[in-house]
Amino acid sequence: MALRSVESIPMDFALSHEHELVREMAYKFAQQQIVPDIAERDREHRSDRSMLDKMAEAGILGVSLPAKYCGSDTDYISLGIVCEEMERGDTSARVVMSVHSGLHCMTVLQWGSAEQKQRWLPDLAKGNKVGAFGLTEPNAGSDAINLKTRAVKDGDSYILNGEKTWISLADYADQFLVIAITNPEAKAKAQTMSAFIVDRKTPGFSSRPLKGKLGVRAGNTGQIFFEDMRIPAENRLGEEGDGFKIAMSALDHGRYTVASGAVGIIEACLDACKPYSTSRSVGGEEIGKKQLVQQMIANMVQGREIGRLLYYKVGWMKNMGQRHTKEVSLAKWTNCNNAFTAANDAIEIHGAYGYCDEFPVERYFRNSRGAVIYEGTREIHTLVQAEYELGYRVDKPLSRTLPTWPFGEDV
Ligand code: CAA
Repeated sequence: MALRSVESIPMDFALSHEHELVREMAYKFAQQQIVPDIAERDREHRSDRSMLDKMAEAGILGVSLPAKYCGSDTDYISLGIVCEEMERGDTSARVVMSVHSGLHCMTVLQWGSAEQKQRWLPDLAKGNKVGAFGLTEPNAGSDAINLKTRAVKDGDSYILNGEKTWISLADYADQFLVIAITNPEAKAKAQTMSAFIVDRKTPGFSSRPLKGKLGVRAGNTGQIFFEDMRIPAENRLGEEGDGFKIAMSALDHGRYTVASGAVGIIEACLDACKPYSTSRSVGGEEIGKKQLVQQMIANMVQGREIGRLLYYKVGWMKNMGQRHTKEVSLAKWTNCNNAFTAANDAIEIHGAYGYCDEFPVERYFRNSRGAVIYEGTREIHTLVQAEYELGYRVDKPLSRTLPTWPFGEDV
């Protein structure tokens, strides 16, 4: 059989020159602006609002948003690459990307009307405003369909009451994408909810930080409360009843940032373990020459390479405007598990030194644990994958997708 010419092969694993530039920019930013004081901030449980300002200044908060809205105009794979490099620096920086870029901006880009995109995206892309996401409640985590937060229509606005918990950037974000019950009598539970952009300056809003986290101690996480907040109807994304779909499609974007960020943890483990393995000797031999250490290094390489393939594919599907709920669930599940294993092994390689904060690997271990839980627990993704495979779960085409990349004039 004759070989097909290169031009006719419809698959391309090469990153573009632009992707490499994005990676270089993000790597330098993380190593210069995040890494130098992260051990101290983590030790002191100190989140820092100025990190957001630095990310905004570097253009990072506008990554993969169209130039029409003051974004970088880069493709969606670039968003993943930035998340990978941010998390290689520290998980707290990637979490900013997850909530601001993934859960908030991408969802406004997907679901916003032309007027809403023009109203919100330029300030978000420039980092003049920071966005976050409010779905989870004290009694509705995995069970997201059983929310209590209520928005009652009153003239041309809604009165919002309720609370959300485990909200990243709760104390810093300027606006939140909030999911609330609007139509409790709707036949299908998924149609009882609507999605709103809620400005924190609206009277009735308050937030408070959550203390005592195992990981991501340099990041801000908290609760947000809504008390008789009057939200203009023009702040509703999509139609009444679209809220659950909007929340789930926001999670398609959020999970993408978590999956790509997890690869950054694995890379950071390798950054720490390679020099340690080749400089530490036991019995007159570098520990890197010992096969049990090599096994752990090889597993990290495997996790990084599999992880990139999984998230690059999802980024490519986003570029093509394809639904990727199944693929992103697999990427998030696989990569977060592998990152946690890599961080655990990184401690093993460092021995007792890995157990104290003189080396960064104990932070990677604590930081990687949370991602196995948030944005869909390991158990939820396991069930979702089995349901797809067994035919119990079948995705319909979406009524609204992200704009395909390259972005057109009508984006
Ligand atoms: N995009 C658009 N629409 C979607 C969608 C998506 N990705 N996923 C589902 N939908 C639609 C479906 O098409 C369906 O609509 P129709 O009825 O018109 O067909 C509707 O939404 C209901 O979908 P499902 O039947 O799939 O809903 P389900 O009840 O079976 O979902 C579940 C179950 C998958 C477990 C889901 O509840 C889930 O993912 N739970 C986990 C929630 C989660 O990840 N929470 C984390 C919150 S964020 C966070 O962690 C905080 C932070 O800031 C870090």
